[in-house]
Amino acid sequence: MSHKIGRNDPCWCRSGRKYKACHMAFDEKILKFKEEGHIVPDQDIIKTADQIAGIRESAKINIAVLDYVAENIKAGMSTEEIDRMVYDKTTRMGGFPATLNYQGFPKSSCTSINEQVCHGIPSEADILKEGDILNVDISTRLNGYYSDSSRMFCIGEVSPEKKRLVRVARECIDVGLKEVKPWGFLGDMGQAIHDYAFAHGYTVVREIGGHGVGLEFHEDPWVSYNSKRGTEMLMVPGMVFTIEPMINMGQVEIYIDDGNGWTAYTKDGMPSAQWEVQVLVTEDGYEILSH
Ligand code: MF3
Ligand code: CO
Repeated sequence: MSHKIGRNDPCWCRSGRKYKACHMAFDEKILKFKEEGHIVPDQDIIKTADQIAGIRESAKINIAVLDYVAENIKAGMSTEEIDRMVYDKTTRMGGFPATLNYQGFPKSSCTSINEQVCHGIPSEADILKEGDILNVDISTRLNGYYSDSSRMFCIGEVSPEKKRLVRVARECIDVGLKEVKPWGFLGDMGQAIHDYAFAHGYTVVREIGGHGVGLEFHEDPWVSYNSKRGTEMLMVPGMVFTIEPMINMGQVEIYIDDGNGWTAYTKDGMPSAQWEVQVLVTEDGYEILSH
């Protein structure tokens, strides 16, 4: 938070209004939370109206790509084929897949099947079969703005146990969203999700969480779903982050594939499910930007 800005200077949010009539009270309110010992957002992760508009455009592509995958995914298809659909649809709409070449990640999507927790790498060798559950995770860059969301897909007839896992993982998102409002804390959301998953007999992966997103693919804050109410970063209007808890049917422990350095698996080999939404904190709650 900058304090050099004068009452009559133009506001940092580029609204064109004077600071005192725009974000001054807002900044003072954040400062009060900081003085009470809370983690508060820096100005550079609070998005301006223009930036939110840019992120929304990027998210339109992200949603369309996931819809396209949903229409075409089926047994017998390789995850490489899914990845090709993602690349083609994204680029045809003028965007670029944010994962492609991101820190060496080789593909346009993450496809994580059954006991793969996340960051599965699409491959010609991975053929979808009846009874599989998988997460397809999509992220788009458009004009420098980023969007990120993922969904679960059930291939053909899936066991009741897996179906329940997929459903509860989806419900975790709704339970978390209810906690997204200005002047609450990310820990309110984290604990709500954890408690809900736990009440259904599941565990929530600790090592990998959500993140701020918008001007970069991954921004502050890091978002945990094993956190406690009243802790973690204060939520304020203009913050954009993902809710993407990984819910394990069995034990919480995971490991990363030695061979590719990316893909996370459950240690006990039991299935894991994840949905991801990208959410904006608004004046009175939240808006889902990508899902
Ligand atoms: N959408 C994924 C996430 O935010 C992307 C991870 S980076 C990747 O967790 F390189 F693994 F794709
Ligand atoms: Co993400």
